[in-house]
Amino acid sequence: MWYNTKVTKMLGIDYPIMQGPFGGGLSSVELVAIVSNEGGLGGYGAYTLSPQEIVEADNKIRAATNKPYNINLWVSDNDTPTGTVSDEQYEQAKKIFKPYFDEAGIALPEKPAPFISRFENQVQVILDIRPRVFSFMFGVPSADILEQCRKSGIKTIGAATTADEALVLEDAGVDMIIASGFEAGGHRPSFLAPAEQSTTGSFVLLQLIKEKVKTPVIAAGGIANGRGVVAALTLGADAAQIGTAFLACDESGALPVHKQMLFSDAAKYTTLTRAFTGRLGRGISNRLIKDLTGKEKQFLPFPLQTTFMSSLRKAALDQQKLDMVLFWGGQIAPILKHKKASLLMRSLIEETTEIMRTSHEQNLSI
Ligand SMILES: Cc1cc2nc3c(=O)[nH]c(=O)nc-3n(C[C@H](O)[C@H](O)[C@H](O)COP(=O)(O)O)c2cc1C
Repeated sequence: MWYNTKVTKMLGIDYPIMQGPFGGGLSSVELVAIVSNEGGLGGYGAYTLSPQEIVEADNKIRAATNKPYNINLWVSDNDTPTGTVSDEQYEQAKKIFKPYFDEAGIALPEKPAPFISRFENQVQVILDIRPRVFSFMFGVPSADILEQCRKSGIKTIGAATTADEALVLEDAGVDMIIASGFEAGGHRPSFLAPAEQSTTGSFVLLQLIKEKVKTPVIAAGGIANGRGVVAALTLGADAAQIGTAFLACDESGALPVHKQMLFSDAAKYTTLTRAFTGRLGRGISNRLIKDLTGKEKQFLPFPLQTTFMSSLRKAALDQQKLDMVLFWGGQIAPILKHKKASLLMRSLIEETTEIMRTSHEQNLSI
């Protein structure tokens, strides 16, 4: 059967369908539990949480499901060697963003406070709470951390945007690799070449990675229905990770207006941009992104750009100036149908089963 794959066996789940974790407060315990309870693998993005908050989220997930689930962190969570930027960099950013703060009638923010990486403390919690699955992006945890995961029975999943990154993940001994295609919503998790040079589409990337590695591969990016799951499995994936379609469901942590945008005509156009966080990510195109294309050198590095933009985001949302807010989403958004995560899960399973059955029958009759 299509649902017996290396990934389902390794994780002890019924179907090779994973709900992509969402960082930045967009994950929810309810969504994780629904997907896991329906036989897939729910995922919780925790990279902005404190260690204590991760423990609390984990306790809530355990209370809501006794099935396997995934907690996700960012290995590299800072693009500034010192955690801060020079006054000159800050002045340059102020200059290009001033018209938008003026339009929203709010003051330009102070220079963001120095950022201190959180990963080491966060990962310690993962080792303590031992979720069945620990997935990560933006790099590879140290050999020591991966060894501790192996000893504790935590399965590891790393994200690759190129075949070279997949090889590095395999050499490090991760259990599964996500092939993260450029159609995907959210950040590009590149960690070798710059993200702008790591923009292969999901189904090419999947095949390139399959040529190079023996580790089970999970396809992510542009999958939102049974056809997408079948295509991924046909090209050699052992599971599909689905983000945007779950983000749009009532149970995700996204704002109602974000979900409306994903179901609106606006979702026909998405763009990769650094304007809102300092790292390259895909969201629904807007005026600010268009205006600032070509001015990337004046943005602050991640995550200081996120901090810099936070008051503008809040004011723009309050004033309904939605063309200045980034609504994360992938290229597949215009085909989304479901608003309930359980219905999305069930339709993914039914559609995949039906397509596989029909193609099996056709093969028999040839
Ligand atoms: C809003 C948003 C936030 C995301 N945050 C993370 C994250 O923190 N960690 C991660 O590994 N993947 C993250 N992703 C990627 C998803 O888990 C998933 O791989 C991706 O959305 C799949 O592509 P799709 O959006 O085309 O379905 C995020 C995606 C979105 C849309």
